[in-house]
Amino acid sequence: MTVAVAQARTRALGAVRLRGLDFAFSTRSGARLPVLDGVDLEIGGGGIVALIGPNGCGKSTLLRVIAGLLAPAAGEAMLDGTPIAGPDPRIGLVFQEPRLLPWRSAADNITYPLELAGWPTARRVERLAALAGLVGLDPAVTASRPSELSGGTRQRVALARALAMEPQVLLLDEPFSALDALTRERFDLELLRLWERAATTIVMVTHSIPEAILVADRVVVLSPRPGRVVADIAVDLPRPRTIADLDQAMVSRTSREIRAHLGDPDAGGEAEPGGRVHQPIERPPAEFAS
Ligand SMILES: Nc1ncnc2c1ncn2[C@@H]1O[C@H](COP(=O)(O)OP(=O)(O)OP(=O)(O)O)[C@@H](O)[C@H]1O
Ligand SMILES: [Mg+2]
Repeated sequence: MTVAVAQARTRALGAVRLRGLDFAFSTRSGARLPVLDGVDLEIGGGGIVALIGPNGCGKSTLLRVIAGLLAPAAGEAMLDGTPIAGPDPRIGLVFQEPRLLPWRSAADNITYPLELAGWPTARRVERLAALAGLVGLDPAVTASRPSELSGGTRQRVALARALAMEPQVLLLDEPFSALDALTRERFDLELLRLWERAATTIVMVTHSIPEAILVADRVVVLSPRPGRVVADIAVDLPRPRTIADLDQAMVSRTSREIRAHLGDPDAGGEAEPGGRVHQPIERPPAEFAS
């Protein structure tokens, strides 16, 4: 067992299990477009998985299936042992383009799910302050509309909204792709600090191999459409992580392995089928809370 796996946090809630997931869209011409093909994936509660794969392979579709926004044609998606049958407050999704309501202030976007859930104003205000702190949002900007905010601040607002109902699972679809390189690294590290406090299971789609390695316990590589899992690669880096960790020899090895599974002819060598297998360890929830 590696050090990273030994230090990975696991907890009782937020376990995601995907079994034989198939999904197809019906196109305008009436044809069937297969997008996901027999996707199997298990993520223990509190785990962080990065999903990586070529454009159009079905990553966003997969997140929407896990979020209960799309129903699979076959197979099932489960959260903590029960099928995900529709949108669920235990699952938060940050879309590829932050879908904020343009006519609402940042604050009112963040508290929108609380409003829908019938929270009284005083409780919403209190929760807003906690969420702004959690995602590092400057309280001075919460009165602004989304169009008045920078891309990075909009992402923080979208993240805060996704966290509003204290989800067990956080699905992030290329959340930081529009940010400059240094800001992106900072956001990645802030996400990890947030994970240390909020303890959610995270599934993060990214096109950045270094980002996947920096953030995740495992990097799951999908094939071109219809997406299926071609590798599940453990990231053997201890936590807490820093940018300096990306300099380790192990990182270039992992990076080469991911590239090989993505079909990069310059990655050197053949991709080992299925990648290295991740072995989660079980720990009592109390240990996680400490
Ligand atoms: N609503 C839809 N109706 C029909 N086809 C769709 C729909 N949404 C997505 N598709 C198609 O399904 C396939 C998978 O799309 P998806 O957005 O899941 O890919 P992706 O892996 O997230 O790609 P990217 O890396 O570009 O974000 C693509 O071929 C896309 O054109
Ligand atoms: Mg996408």
